[in-house]
Amino acid sequence: MRDRETLVFRTTLRELTVLVGAAAIATAMTAATAQAREFRLGLITPPNHIWTENAVRFGEALSEETDGRYSIAVFPSQQLGNEAQMLQQLQTGALDMSFMTAAEISNRVPEFGAFYAPFLVGDIAEAAEILRSDEAKAMLDLLPRVGVVGLGYGSAGLRQIVARGAVESPADLQGSKIRITPFEPIKDFYEALGTAPTPMPLPDVYDALANGQVDAIDMDLELIWKLKYTDHADTMLLSNHMMFPMVGIVSGRIWATLPEEDREIIARLMAQYTDAALQEYVDLEDDFLAEVEKTDITITPIDSDFFGDAVAAWNAKWEEKAPNVATLRALVD
Ligand code: BEZ
Repeated sequence: MRDRETLVFRTTLRELTVLVGAAAIATAMTAATAQAREFRLGLITPPNHIWTENAVRFGEALSEETDGRYSIAVFPSQQLGNEAQMLQQLQTGALDMSFMTAAEISNRVPEFGAFYAPFLVGDIAEAAEILRSDEAKAMLDLLPRVGVVGLGYGSAGLRQIVARGAVESPADLQGSKIRITPFEPIKDFYEALGTAPTPMPLPDVYDALANGQVDAIDMDLELIWKLKYTDHADTMLLSNHMMFPMVGIVSGRIWATLPEEDREIIARLMAQYTDAALQEYVDLEDDFLAEVEKTDITITPIDSDFFGDAVAAWNAKWEEKAPNVATLRALVD
């Protein structure tokens, strides 16, 4: 009898232990699930673009390092709106993160216009030198002014001009409608050149060039090749006239809700993957040119002389609006 009682007692104890263990695991899982958070990161670039690919890698690295507590849903191709709209969403906290053109930032923070000084850099390696400098990093400290936190720089390739028809001299561009990314510094440059700059977000450019809504586009080599703008153009002026930085940003409102140790992880990984996007252009810019060279387009190398007084006119205007351009120039002189 005593043996039977002991057996019953032991069995009950074992069941209780299993139950308590299961309850503890369930509680831990509920807590982990409750803490798991998916950030939304928006971009205007297509899925096969270097920025988008590095945004996806950033999300994977963040999930891995936080054991799934954080993950990132990447929205490419302007799915969440154009950059002006995304910046507004970041300000209200409706969007968490973006890899965004410094161009859009320069519409709100004029100091970022300094990056677009025509012929500030001679090649993409010099652009990288500027973007990795302490001076450029210090500019990120200006971003809380517009409600976002800047955590790192990437880049696209240097800018070129792709035109329908032949372009043999600046006269051929006079009065032409040239597609530009919607931001002030580039608008000022093309106006100074005597053209009619036409602001247009990236996803609209292919059709506009194809149907003749614009005569030419301002673009980089990667996209000239990948998005096949050469299908509807005859000439590429290989000008390398401007750099085109990208900034990794987080909504200031969202940032304020994050624990310090998680901010450190996000800041480090975002800086790592924006810089990886920068390095890819340093490594691949020549390959992109080689791809464009395989097409039927006529490639005409030009330098700052081609643009006549437009460069000096730009400098006169923007050296006032963004005096920090002198600091950036000194880095690569
Ligand atoms: C553009 O507007 O031309 C552009 C935007 C993002 C990446 C590259 C190019």
